[in-house]
Amino acid sequence: MYTIIQNTKISTNVGKIVIEAPYIAQHRKAGQFVIIIVDEVGERIPLTIADADKEKGTITLYYQIVGTSTHKLSLKKEGEELYNVAGPLGHPTDIHNYGTAVCVGGGIGIAAVNPIAVAMKEAGNYCINIIGARNKELLILEQELKVKSDQIIVTTDDGSYGIKGFVTDELKKILDSRKVDIVVAVGPVPMMKAVSELTRTYNVKTLVSLNSIMVDGTGMCGGCRVTVDGKKQFTCVDGPEFDAHLVDFDELMKRLNTYKDQEKESFEKHTCQLEKYHGR
Ligand SMILES: Cc1cc2nc3c(=O)[nH]c(=O)nc-3n(C[C@H](O)[C@H](O)[C@H](O)COP(=O)(O)OP(=O)(O)OC[C@H]3O[C@@H](n4cnc5c(N)ncnc54)[C@H](O)[C@@H]3O)c2cc1C
Ligand code: FES
Repeated sequence: MYTIIQNTKISTNVGKIVIEAPYIAQHRKAGQFVIIIVDEVGERIPLTIADADKEKGTITLYYQIVGTSTHKLSLKKEGEELYNVAGPLGHPTDIHNYGTAVCVGGGIGIAAVNPIAVAMKEAGNYCINIIGARNKELLILEQELKVKSDQIIVTTDDGSYGIKGFVTDELKKILDSRKVDIVVAVGPVPMMKAVSELTRTYNVKTLVSLNSIMVDGTGMCGGCRVTVDGKKQFTCVDGPEFDAHLVDFDELMKRLNTYKDQEKESFEKHTCQLEKYHGR
């Protein structure tokens, strides 16, 4: 079983969970993810392995509370168990000493960019991290990334912290001022698309980690299908990372919206039941 060592809220709608999972802690590499199931009737939630402690046999995940399953996860207490944690899944990031690496994280994507930035730095790259959120409240992992990079730039859309503006504004300034050998971007699809369009004009190799809808995580169901370089790919087994300049982002956005109404209905029903349970 997968015992929860810690489960805390670190911002308005983001939780940090540390889980006992010795096999995954030993074998995971930057860029990989797990699929967790909270309880016997739970759906599968893909989450990036943000960190791991080989000695303690634990993995750390960050989750945004967006719907029923992540809400259920946020209610789990220290000492309780998760029904299942499968992984490590997906291909690890292609880590080399490229020269200068810029890692761009947006919102909850900062959690996924964290292990990649660490691995890029350990491989000898000069590592610049740009992290951004809608506002200060939603910004995560700034301190962790600060100690693990050569340079860190923070942006908020509303200017409540760091530089006012988008991560792409700062990325453009860097691309204009120095040679960049690789860019890795993880965040909302419109952000990854914007990064990709920008780096294409500078001809800089760019990787993105895609958050497609996943069901089985084995390449069998087809739920996570994306089009890359005009070919059908499955994010769970062929990704989650792809060459940004070859991804059909518009199709990905459409597919992510497919179940919006059902998800909203499920979340409303779930919170309504919880209110009843708590006598409200
Ligand atoms: C490889 C990968 C790594 C991810 N890493 C993280 C992470 O580290 N932290 C994090 O907060 N989120 C991550 N996600 C997204 C996360 O899996 C979804 O936010 C989560 O499943 C939502 O579950 P829910 O029931 O609470 O929300 P729902 O109400 O079911 O969905 C809300 C929204 O979440 C997205 N979503 C729902 N189900 C899935 C699914 N099975 N796969 C992908 N997206 C889905 C959709 O855009 C949907 O509109 C990752 C997704 C993938 C594919
Ligand atoms: S999640 Fe089913 S094919 Fe990828």
